[in-house]
Amino acid sequence: MTPKNDTQPRDRVLTGDTPTGRLHLGHYVGSVENRLRLQDEYECYFLLANMHAFTTRADKSEEIRRDTIEIVKDWLACGIDPQRSTIVLQTEVPAIAELSWFFAMLIPFNRVMRNPTLKTEIESKNLGDTYPFGFPMYAVGQCADILVFRPKYVPVGEDQAPHIEMCREVARRFDQLFCHVDPHVDDADYPKTGGVFPIPEALIGRVGRLVGADGKNKMSKSLNNAIYLSDTPKQVKKKIGAMYPGQSRNPDEPGDPDINPVFEYADIFIKDQAAVAELKDRYRKGDNIGDGHIKLAVIDAVNELLDPIRTRRAQYAGAAGDDLVLDIIRQGTRRANVVAEETLAMAKEAMNLNFWRRRLSDDD
Ligand code: TRP
Repeated sequence: MTPKNDTQPRDRVLTGDTPTGRLHLGHYVGSVENRLRLQDEYECYFLLANMHAFTTRADKSEEIRRDTIEIVKDWLACGIDPQRSTIVLQTEVPAIAELSWFFAMLIPFNRVMRNPTLKTEIESKNLGDTYPFGFPMYAVGQCADILVFRPKYVPVGEDQAPHIEMCREVARRFDQLFCHVDPHVDDADYPKTGGVFPIPEALIGRVGRLVGADGKNKMSKSLNNAIYLSDTPKQVKKKIGAMYPGQSRNPDEPGDPDINPVFEYADIFIKDQAAVAELKDRYRKGDNIGDGHIKLAVIDAVNELLDPIRTRRAQYAGAAGDDLVLDIIRQGTRRANVVAEETLAMAKEAMNLNFWRRRLSDDD
C-alpha cells in the first residue's frame, strides 16, 4: 500500500457489513481495525448491506432496520469518523441494484453456486434447498457493492475472500467484454488500458479467524459464543472467566499454551507481548500459574480495548442517538450516490446504454 498525501486524489476503499446484529471481537480484529487504519490515507466507503439481510430474514424487516442503526453505532463507537469516511445505505443507492443486473449477465450461474462462502452459509445456517433466489444473488450484488465505488482495496475477514475473488472476475470480464481490455494485461493495468473497473484487492485482517468464547468454533452470533463490542465489563469477565482452558491442570502442573484458547486471546489482545511470552513460559513449566491469572490478564486487555468504544457509544444512546445516526447515514449516502451514479454512467456508456444522462434527485 502506498500512502497518499492530500494533493493527490486518494485511492478508494470499500467494505461493508450485513446488519444481522451487533459487532463482536471477531469483527474487530478481522476487519474493523483495518478500516480504522485506512481512514486517514484513503477515501473510505463503509456500506450497510441492508438488502442482503433480507436474503435470510425477509420476515424481520423491523429487526433489520434496528440492526442497521445499531451497526452504525458500533462503527462510530469504534472510531469510524463520518467526517473522513462515508457511511452508505445500500438500499438508497439505486446504481448498486442496476449494476447487479449487468454483472449477473457476466457470471455463469454454476460459478456463483460453487462459491465456497455461499456453500458454507447454506450449511451453517441450515438453509437446505429452500433459500430464495436472492440468496445466491447477493454474492453478485456484492460485486456491485464493491465495484460501484471503483475501489483499490476491500478490507474484509477471511471468510469473504471468495466473494472478492468473484468480484475480481466480474471486473475483468466487464472490462474485457465492454471496454476491450486485453485479457493478458496485468490486473493493475485494467483502468489504464481503458477498463471502467479496477481489479480490487482484498485486505484480510490481522486475525482471520477468532475463536469464540466456547474455545472451539469461530466467534459468531449464531453460535452463541460471541463477546460483543457493546458488552459491559461484567459480561466480558463472565464470558472469558468461563472459558475452558483446553486442559485441566493445577497451577504447579505443566500445561500447553498452544491448546489453550485463552492464550490465543492473550496473543491477540495483550499489547505487552513480552509479558505474554513470560506467562507462556511459566505455564509450560507449571510455575505456580493458575488459569484464573491468565484469564484476568486477558479480561483486562479486552476491557482496555473496549473502554473507549463504550465511551464513544454513549454519545449515540437512545432516540436522540438514532436521529444523529440517521443524519450521518443520509449525508453519507448522498455523497456516495455522486460516485455511484458516475460509475453507472461509465458502465452504461461502455455497454452502449448511454441513451441519455439521468440525474438522481434526493429531495427531502
Ligand atoms: N457479505 C459481507 C458480510 O457478510 C457484507 C458485505 C456486503 C460486504 N457487501 C460488501 C463486504 C461489500 C465487503 C464488500 O460480511
